[in-house]
Amino acid sequence: MIPQPFIDELIDRTDIVEVVGARVALKKAGARYKGLCPFHDEKTPSFTVSPDKGFYHCFGCQAGGNAIGFLMEHDNMSFPEAVDDLAAMLGIEVPTQRGDTDRGETQRLHDVLGEADRIYRRALRNHPAAIDYLKARGLDGETAKRFAIGYAPDAWDTLVGAPGRSESRTRLLVKAGLAIENDAGRCYDRFRGRVMFPIRDRLGKVIGFGGRVLDAGEPKYMNSPETPVFHKGRTLYGVYEARQRPGRHDEIVIVEGYLDVVSLAQHGIEPVVATLGTATSSEHARQLTQRYKRVVFCFDGDRAGRAAAWQALETALPYAGGEVELVFLLLPEGEDPDSLVRSQGADVFRDLLSNATPLSDFFIAGLREQVDVGSADGRSKIVALARPLLERVKARVYRELLTAELARVVGLPAERLGGLLDNPPQRPSRPQQPLHRKSTLMRKTITLALHYPSVAGSVDGIDGFDDVHLPGASLLRRILEVAREQPEVTPGHLIERFREDEEGRHLNRLLAETPLDDENAAPDVLRDSLLRLVREQRRKDAVKALRKRTLSGPVDEISEG
Ligand code: UTP
Ligand code: MN
Repeated sequence: MIPQPFIDELIDRTDIVEVVGARVALKKAGARYKGLCPFHDEKTPSFTVSPDKGFYHCFGCQAGGNAIGFLMEHDNMSFPEAVDDLAAMLGIEVPTQRGDTDRGETQRLHDVLGEADRIYRRALRNHPAAIDYLKARGLDGETAKRFAIGYAPDAWDTLVGAPGRSESRTRLLVKAGLAIENDAGRCYDRFRGRVMFPIRDRLGKVIGFGGRVLDAGEPKYMNSPETPVFHKGRTLYGVYEARQRPGRHDEIVIVEGYLDVVSLAQHGIEPVVATLGTATSSEHARQLTQRYKRVVFCFDGDRAGRAAAWQALETALPYAGGEVELVFLLLPEGEDPDSLVRSQGADVFRDLLSNATPLSDFFIAGLREQVDVGSADGRSKIVALARPLLERVKARVYRELLTAELARVVGLPAERLGGLLDNPPQRPSRPQQPLHRKSTLMRKTITLALHYPSVAGSVDGIDGFDDVHLPGASLLRRILEVAREQPEVTPGHLIERFREDEEGRHLNRLLAETPLDDENAAPDVLRDSLLRLVREQRRKDAVKALRKRTLSGPVDEISEG
């Protein structure tokens, strides 16, 4: 828990132009700065940064937020990471509140994980059976060292009973996922008799482990559970090791297993990463496509592998197109990357990688498998299956190309299919103009309040406003409240207040709108909007009352008659 006043201050003091400008080329344009949007593919700038309001916004793809949000989106940081980063830029300390995820604890978790890593690596040297296992799997010492592979001895207390034991340390081991507490309150090591693969974050800190049994025991792999420092949906095995490789790499391979990563790396096929026994998450796809130009999804050729590949495709669709090439490699049945590179060698594997199936082909083939395109019904069904998937593709040109491919399969002219899919191309970006999206009065009013908090904070009470219960009213009321309490609040500030809020987390989209040409009109327009909301509510109430009367009318007449 980071105290709210600190976050407020952080946002106030941060120069968002500096933060964004370090990552996106910006040009001054009036009171704002403009540049090419880093979140979608574009040729003309529709990305703007407003220093006075403390936010950025893209008119093309609707991305928007404050400096914290920018770092979270652009650099894939978590909220605390983004806060840390901004604080470091300003050279200030992040204060912590008591709570179970304070910075001190994070530090202690990292410490205990790092200590476990050292214990496991040392233990490997003393356990010939484990070394023999790794050798039998073809691993050389250098690779084992690079990936910091270790061994958890087959004992209940390797970590729990290590020197320096104390109750608080044991609790930390449990919290770090390294020990388990049984019903009787006794703690014992989670990993026993397993070869250990430390999972490191991008800076090299150990955040979790995967452990493999030496024999045919079950489960084959055991992974650290989710902890305050370990999030499977955000983490990929091998990221740190991949970054350690000198030189520039445009291509990355993503596989399913720890040993696949290690084995491919040993054969010089890098960078390579793996998901942690989970499906490919959107966050994974984003991380990969942000940094690499070609991403190869490499899966086993069995049913499970094919299903995982299709899932990865669906997840990665929003990031496809533009400069990023996504390709799929399904290995022959019974093979995985490790077995294949060992039996066929690195050159054959490289060949397979460079001839991997482009997303577009994989997409069409995957759809065709699900229907019989020989019949009109099947062709109609394939279109129905494709529609939601096509809608996920953000890059407009790419979406149209996929649509054209699909059109060929169903035998319709591409334009006609495009029209039928009712999938209009993204509106060309027109900065400076309000977006003509569904604009209810409530939406407009919230937008006004958000853009002009100092005005919003000073409007007098409006008669009847407390009775307004239209959708969005409670959010508007809360915004007005914050604005009243903190007259100097900025829009960038306001959206921070609502980041975790069910109703308010989409507020940053409203930063898109340019509510007024003349800022001086804000007080009148806002007041007028609030009055109109009251009228709208009253009209609604009146209609409702009338409806009720009409419905109960005859009954009343009978009882009266
Ligand atoms: P695989 O079963 O394909 O194993 O699991 P593998 O990677 O080829 O392992 P080896 O070659 O037999 O040693 C792939 C990945 O799925 C997760 C692990 O992340 C593993 O690397 N997994 C698998 C688990 O989490 N638990 C399991 O019991 C099995
Ligand atoms: Mn394997």
